[in-house]
Amino acid sequence: MTQQWTPVCEEAVLVPDTGICAKVGDQHVAVFKAAADGEVYAVSNVCPFGNASVLSRGLLGDANGEIYVASPLLKQRFRLKDGICLDDESVTLATYPVRVENGKIEVGA
Ligand code: FES
Repeated sequence: MTQQWTPVCEEAVLVPDTGICAKVGDQHVAVFKAAADGEVYAVSNVCPFGNASVLSRGLLGDANGEIYVASPLLKQRFRLKDGICLDDESVTLATYPVRVENGKIEVGA
């Protein structure tokens, strides 16, 4: 399947350590710019524990250099680079490739 890139927002409007949510195809995606490493990450916006589209409102944190988002609902932490839940490694959040094109963040799905 060919990867489609969906423009999500201007990189400049993304406040470090704050998420936005966007619809990419039929997926709800949370996009973050981590202050700790300056990278942009895209993960599913849907918390698999609460099954609610909330993760863009989660708080970013750092556990031994692993940048994570903590669900605003139940506080589980998901590592942004691979979506693995740091509190229950049997649970993984979908992650998406991200690129910046002409100042716009695009998410692949
Ligand atoms: S796109 Fe905003 S909650 Fe799903």
